[in-house]
Amino acid sequence: MKKIKTSYYTISSPNLPKPFRGYRIIHLSDLHGALYGKNHKVLIQKIKEAAPDCIMMTGDMADQSLEAIPRLIDLCRRLCRYWPVYFIDGNHEQCLKRREYICLHRELKRAGVIQLRNSWKELSYKGTSIQVYGLVMPMMYYKDWFREYRWGAEFSAEDAGTLLGKPKDGCFRILLAHNPLYFPAYRDWGADLTLSGHIHGGIIRIPRLGGLLSPEVKFFPKYDGGHFLEKGRHLVVSRGLGNHFLFRMWNPPEVAVITFA
Ligand SMILES: [Fe+2]
Repeated sequence: MKKIKTSYYTISSPNLPKPFRGYRIIHLSDLHGALYGKNHKVLIQKIKEAAPDCIMMTGDMADQSLEAIPRLIDLCRRLCRYWPVYFIDGNHEQCLKRREYICLHRELKRAGVIQLRNSWKELSYKGTSIQVYGLVMPMMYYKDWFREYRWGAEFSAEDAGTLLGKPKDGCFRILLAHNPLYFPAYRDWGADLTLSGHIHGGIIRIPRLGGLLSPEVKFFPKYDGGHFLEKGRHLVVSRGLGNHFLFRMWNPPEVAVITFA
């Protein structure tokens, strides 16, 4: 079992209501059926140590492997006892067989998970609120080298608006979007903070150069992991917790802790 690294990020924005200062989010992504200790004990302990206010999952927490769905459902049941859990699909959930997809989402709902599918929910705290949006984009935008998805398709801010609607004025917006490739579109649509995964930290992390490879088989992807700030808008890309069929080198599984300042 690989040791989980906890990464800490501090986010500030003039759009953030002052009472949210100190609010803490645990960002999990790309578990891909991995299990950290019996009943997820190791992962849950890591989360407890960070004392979060909520948990946000940004896709590929399950995949097509046999054990992935029951493990994720079990994890969510345990987490929902303590914290609100927000969830979006990644490309691997989108590619599940229909029966598995329906089962996964039915059980997540029963567990109390807040599922966002091109929709949003208000997150209230200390008498004020922000918005949490969840984007699930059509598969053609993933540009997967190994599948039939259409090459050349670009996802724009207008496309984000078509799927998510016009953002509400004067409100801090978190966007959960599995694929960080289109951060400029999310940013220009109006996301103050985007949380993404998908890249697995670039699989192999090379000192000073960053992640080697993206799922589009692109070398040294720009948004490979960590915190990015462009035009006053934030992006945090989780390096993920699992492998899918890939390995990880110099790239430990990650729990990200995001604190508002
Ligand atoms: Fe993915």
